[in-house]
Amino acid sequence: MEKPLTKQEISDLLDAAQQARANSYSPYSHFKVGAAVLTQKGAIFTGTNIENASYGLTVCAERNAIFAAVGAGQRRFRALALITQKLPGLAFNSPCGACRQVMSEFMAPTMPVFIAVLDGAKRTVYKKQLKDLMPFPFDKFSEK
Ligand code: THU
Repeated sequence: MEKPLTKQEISDLLDAAQQARANSYSPYSHFKVGAAVLTQKGAIFTGTNIENASYGLTVCAERNAIFAAVGAGQRRFRALALITQKLPGLAFNSPCGACRQVMSEFMAPTMPVFIAVLDGAKRTVYKKQLKDLMPFPFDKFSEK
């Protein structure tokens, strides 16, 4: 059974994602995203979206956070948080399909994904599970 996250762990993860968002390199979309992952060892790794003049080379915040952790030898996760700005007409922005597939490589289907939206100074947080965002990931190792 997975240990539930404390309020403090959740707010620390969201704060880390928000701080990473400040480093967003997004001169083309002007859409800043921050992400943070909490590992089973209790470490937080962050990422932000990094764009390129060759637009398709852009890498999302979520993948940068996951790859930072995996590159540092930590690939067991308890939670992921991402944060964006509020867009008109949208309650929140959920992770793109590519990031969902990468999450599914390393994260349990029941793992919580916290999606935060900044509206001025107000931060609204939505909690999902990976399986809600990515019910049928590609998995070459098993038949689910
Ligand atoms: N982006 C992310 O960082 N994460 C997502 O889940 C979706 C989109 C970035 C990519 C690009 O830099 C900008 O947001 C607009 O698409």
